[in-house]
Amino acid sequence: MKIFVTRNIPTSKLNWLQGGGREVVISPYDRPLTAYELLELGAGADVLLTLLTDRITGDVVDAIGPQLKIVSNYAVGYDNIDVPEMTKRGIVVTNTPCEEVNQSVAELAWSLIMALARRVVEADQATRQGAYKGWEPGVFLGHTLVGKTLGIVGMGRIGGMVAKRAKGFEMRVLYFNRSRDEKAEADIGVEYAEIDKLLSESDFVSLNVPLTNETRHLMDYERIFKMKKGAVLVNTARGPVVYEQALVDALRQGHLGGAGLDVFENEPNIHPELVAMENVILTPHIASATYEAREKMGEMAVVAINEFLEGRMPANIVNKEVWDKRRV
Ligand code: GLV
Ligand code: GLV
Repeated sequence: MKIFVTRNIPTSKLNWLQGGGREVVISPYDRPLTAYELLELGAGADVLLTLLTDRITGDVVDAIGPQLKIVSNYAVGYDNIDVPEMTKRGIVVTNTPCEEVNQSVAELAWSLIMALARRVVEADQATRQGAYKGWEPGVFLGHTLVGKTLGIVGMGRIGGMVAKRAKGFEMRVLYFNRSRDEKAEADIGVEYAEIDKLLSESDFVSLNVPLTNETRHLMDYERIFKMKKGAVLVNTARGPVVYEQALVDALRQGHLGGAGLDVFENEPNIHPELVAMENVILTPHIASATYEAREKMGEMAVVAINEFLEGRMPANIVNKEVWDKRRV
């Protein structure tokens, strides 16, 4: 029984994988593996514990071998895994959705919204460069949040947490989702809006959808230019949800007032114009990077493997339909 962990992860629970004659192999490299290394180190594995930087396709799992039974992805998003191909081969896929991750992502979305509204990063940089010579009446003016409209695209667990926090700032909250969420409307006091209406009325837009074929380039030229003039876009979801060139053009033309980006269309590459823009805040895909979230993610990824190996269906299985025809 070989368990291959594609990169060491910050959790105290990895040792829960040990025992029962299992061979636990952890990648010796503190970086994403190349495709070749993944196959070389993972060959013969029964279990893979993967990260969102690993591309797991049908070809990859075929090369790893017919004994591979489960891919436990250390992330909430699993767009790095070709799930239909896994299901076809009887391979179980799990992810790590948990309150700690949802809270952490929602809090980073808020960090970006607040930092953009008050130009915190720009002001910090100017201050460090010696620009501060005393209080001034007209520098670094930003905007208050009270009474402004926040548009939330994707009203899942994370979107709901972003919305709830907006109420503390006395904002109006619009949301767009595939299906209406009447419970959120009643509990949080959010209003459903079609995406075009949401974009045209929101001062801040937060993207909180998973990456799927439907959401890829959801924010294309047309939608980005439907946003209110001067509005701010925050993306803590997945980079390809935004057509980055359209965003760059809208920022360069002054159509948008700013952007807060934790994810990028071609990670780890970032559009060079974004790097040069002062009204853009860039963070390196750290939305779930809290001690609380990463510990819990590690625990969930490990527990899913142990449950599977003990014959129980992991609670966080992504492709339930595989269960009765899974590889054993
Ligand atoms: C992080 O991006 C995750 O999906 O957990
Ligand atoms: C600002 O520092 C003020 O006192 O108004």
